Amino acid sequence: MASSYTPLFPQLNGLLHGGDYNPDQWLDRPDILEKDVELMKKAGINSVSLGIFAWSALEPEEGVYTFDWMDQTIDRLYQNGIYTILATPSGARPAWMDEKYPEVRRVLPTGKRNLHGGRHNHCITSPVYRQKVREMNTRLAQRYGQHPGVILWHISNEFGGACCCDLCRKKFQDWLRERYHNDIGQLNHAWWTGFWSHTFDSFDQIDPPMDQGEHSVLGMLLDWRRFTTANTADFIRNETEPLQQYAPSLPVTTNFMWLFGGLDYNEIAKEIDVISWDAYPRWHNEQPLYAVASETAFNHSLMRSFKRGQPFMLMESTPSKVNWMPYNKLKRPGLHELACLQAIASGSDTVQYFQFRMGRGSFEQFHGAVVDHTGRDDTRVFQEVSETGQTLKALSNLAGSVPSPRAAVIYDWDNRWAIEDMAGAAKQDKKYNETCIQHFRAMLRLGEDPDVISSTESFEGYDLIAAPMLYLLKPGVAQRLKDFTAAGGVVVTTWLTGYVDESTLAFLGGFPGDGLMELTGVEAAELDTLYPGQSNRIRWNGKEYPAAEFCELLTLRGAKAAGTYLEDFYAGQPAVTVHPYGKGMSVHIAARVEDDCLLDIYADIFKERHMGIKALPLGLEIHSRVDGEKRYRFYLNFSEGKVKLPSVPAKCRDMITGEEIPVGTVRELDCYGFLVTEEEL
Ligand code: GLA
Ligand code: ZN
Repeated sequence: MASSYTPLFPQLNGLLHGGDYNPDQWLDRPDILEKDVELMKKAGINSVSLGIFAWSALEPEEGVYTFDWMDQTIDRLYQNGIYTILATPSGARPAWMDEKYPEVRRVLPTGKRNLHGGRHNHCITSPVYRQKVREMNTRLAQRYGQHPGVILWHISNEFGGACCCDLCRKKFQDWLRERYHNDIGQLNHAWWTGFWSHTFDSFDQIDPPMDQGEHSVLGMLLDWRRFTTANTADFIRNETEPLQQYAPSLPVTTNFMWLFGGLDYNEIAKEIDVISWDAYPRWHNEQPLYAVASETAFNHSLMRSFKRGQPFMLMESTPSKVNWMPYNKLKRPGLHELACLQAIASGSDTVQYFQFRMGRGSFEQFHGAVVDHTGRDDTRVFQEVSETGQTLKALSNLAGSVPSPRAAVIYDWDNRWAIEDMAGAAKQDKKYNETCIQHFRAMLRLGEDPDVISSTESFEGYDLIAAPMLYLLKPGVAQRLKDFTAAGGVVVTTWLTGYVDESTLAFLGGFPGDGLMELTGVEAAELDTLYPGQSNRIRWNGKEYPAAEFCELLTLRGAKAAGTYLEDFYAGQPAVTVHPYGKGMSVHIAARVEDDCLLDIYADIFKERHMGIKALPLGLEIHSRVDGEKRYRFYLNFSEGKVKLPSVPAKCRDMITGEEIPVGTVRELDCYGFLVTEEEL
């Protein structure tokens, strides 16, 4: 993928280190506001995200604006070399607005309208709310859009959720009218509404899927989610228009969330210039650390892949703990810096926190922050943040560089939603996310850091594409996978591939449909779902592995069986198949297998395609970024002990210590240790 290797923020001459800053909560404490700047400098913080929930501090009464505190904050920070990411405050509303204009409050699927409270709960459609947002954003853009200290817009906060009010209902109907060319017959066909006599006579009869309403028409459920995405994108455009008008050179972001299911982020990504996201992994939980790490790496990769060839931003992370999980454990010493480096290694140009200073009261008063209630700089957390600041400074050179992997995992929201809604296989736990992460992890173990892309993204530049559980095939995807393979690529598919089209109508004539069977060379004749605790076994390459949860029964249609089931009535039948296609190859894995089996299968593919290296020790991740002249390699130890690194493949320099490292050197990393090297390309 083409890249200009431009750092996201040339003003900063390096990586960005900062976080959410809420001086609006401390306006009666000028001493603290002064101290904040001093502490930021000590911690190596060069940016803040300002004003995210500041609506009531900016417009305490309708039409009465109080920007003084924001003027002073942005100036004070800029004079001290600290840049501002300026938020629009639409993530939460002042009480006066909710009181005067009830329509801005969201209606829940119960049909009831919210009372005032919480956040992230506006009606996405409300013309009043859109107008209020537009007025506020216009003022912010006019006032700060040309300020040299302001480097980015942060639109609202963590968009998500839908509203079921009459305005939204009507807009859904209009959206459907457009999608189905004003022809209710087309909609009825796409939604298969003859089932249970659910045929609609008119678009006006259609409700959102509310608690007491329709939930059995799967095409409708999927369209509702698509509409929610489209309506949110529309809301975002209403936010960005005034910003672009008065501050045309400032880029725009909005913060995404961890594998968020409510919006198709591929669509939302089109509305913004820079991708940013909020990472709160459950470190040190009941899973092994490497598993949490690779799940996090998957998310980073998903984020960076929305805009390939461009760095992304880690917009939020906690310096120590969160406050909203069932159990809020501290990051163990050293893990914080390692986790920050994983974001950078995956292509982020920033490390940012929620939040700089802990609030005194309300819901987030005990959420981790750079500065806690002591207000001091000698805390363990402050020290770790400062060290991270130093490390990021040492890595300044790599700002703008990007990962350039040879492999990608397909991850699609329409597919995820269709699988979630599908009534069949297992009621819950169909494990789409987990399976995609498993494939990603197998490749990560082999030294590859795959992109995570949608099925409609270009496949150019990859040698290998994993398409786990690609149940819903959008138009053209099957053909593009075939073209990719014919030209020499490898495609890995699994059970539940190609069952339905974009309306969730089953393909007729055998799965995978839409011509994809030509590529896989197998037909999925039946899908067996095992009860929890039950398993089958498969033999592949002379080794035996357990298979559980889902076992597809295959009929060979040109492919060769490379692995077979060992138990039950399908013992001896194919479980893993290989099908040469054009210059490439298709591999189909019919059952849900464990990590070690996937690792062995991918290792075999990698060997054949001359990719990667032999499996890394568990917990060791290797990532790299390139910028046309240099390669930056990251070795990250997410294990609970020491690990020995593979010998360095080229003469390089340790970016933290400056030490030259000769080719072939073998290093060891302590628990949570890391090494970042720089080498000529
Ligand atoms: C989210 C929000 C922040 C804050 C953090 C706490 O990411 O964007 O405002 O509430 O969670 O972890
Ligand atoms: Zn609404």
